[in-house]
Amino acid sequence: MSVTPIHPADLSDVARLIAKQNANPETQCLYSGERAEEIEAALRKQTAPCYVVAREGRTLIGAMGCEVEEERGYLQGPFVDGADFDAVADALWSALQMQIASLTGWEAFLHVRNERGAAFYLRQGFRRGQTAQIYVLSASALQPIEGEPARRFTPECAAGVRALHELAFADSPDSIEPFMNGDDETRCLFVYVDKGRCVGYVAASVNDNPREGSIDLLAVDASVRNRGYGRRLLLTAAHWLIRERGMPQVGLTVRDMRADARGLYQRSGFRLLHTGVGYAREFPTNKRR
Ligand SMILES: CC(C)(COP(=O)(O)OP(=O)(O)OC[C@H]1O[C@@H](n2cnc3c(N)ncnc32)[C@H](O)[C@@H]1OP(=O)(O)O)[C@@H](O)C(=O)NCCC(=O)NCCS
Repeated sequence: MSVTPIHPADLSDVARLIAKQNANPETQCLYSGERAEEIEAALRKQTAPCYVVAREGRTLIGAMGCEVEEERGYLQGPFVDGADFDAVADALWSALQMQIASLTGWEAFLHVRNERGAAFYLRQGFRRGQTAQIYVLSASALQPIEGEPARRFTPECAAGVRALHELAFADSPDSIEPFMNGDDETRCLFVYVDKGRCVGYVAASVNDNPREGSIDLLAVDASVRNRGYGRRLLLTAAHWLIRERGMPQVGLTVRDMRADARGLYQRSGFRLLHTGVGYAREFPTNKRR
């Protein structure tokens, strides 16, 4: 077996290998694409995709990659076709780590039924994180907004949105700041204002590949929950993504612990697509101050 960095000539073969593995929940790695054309297009868009491939003779038998964002490595794979999974996965992982230096940590997100992937990450010193559900709303299931839609964010709501975000997502690294920049065409922030006070917000974004809208953050002040504001925010964002931005579907990921939100998504036309489990390994010595 030989393991090498990916070469541009490998991209379509690698995309096909990933699509095949991702078609089966038992070998599926989430957030790495499902259709070969989309996976290939996403790889081609990157100037130097951080991927390694394994071959037996001339046959491609495995691939593993990583996207780096804010010094964290988001892993894709290991994808192994047929052969000895453990040996190929270990070889891919060693080669991949050599390509990337100075991260604060690694993360992976696998289908809950991908047991061989789970065993691999645990063996490599990762810890199992939370279970999360991926939901999707197709354009044909979009429901009407009852009552006034939520309104677009304006800078006078900034302090209110920040305060809500800190309370609702204290344990999450996701920032609300990029959504407050009104000039960004790929993102939108809506707020719900009650008696002059910002009591809820929803952050949405548009993705090219796969072409899909996404609901990134949603929160309503605890003092005014169960009045329908959450649903109105969610549907306002879904209408913006589907009707205004032409997205064929809208996706979102919700952690298991947020049971309130799951009920709301299901009643609002979203259907459960996948259940996944996160794995993470930290490097405390590289932590940013
Ligand atoms: C999830 C969240 C945004 C929901 O906000 P909300 O304003 O309470 O949402 P809604 O009022 O539209 O719906 C919540 C419930 O109230 C009920 N409800 C809505 N209007 C109602 C009314 N007029 N009278 C009584 N009940 C009502 C809904 O039926 C719904 O119940 P269900 O989920 O069991 O079906 C809010 O709980 C929250 O901020 N949670 C913390 C952050 C979070 O988890 N965000 C999602 C992360 S992915």
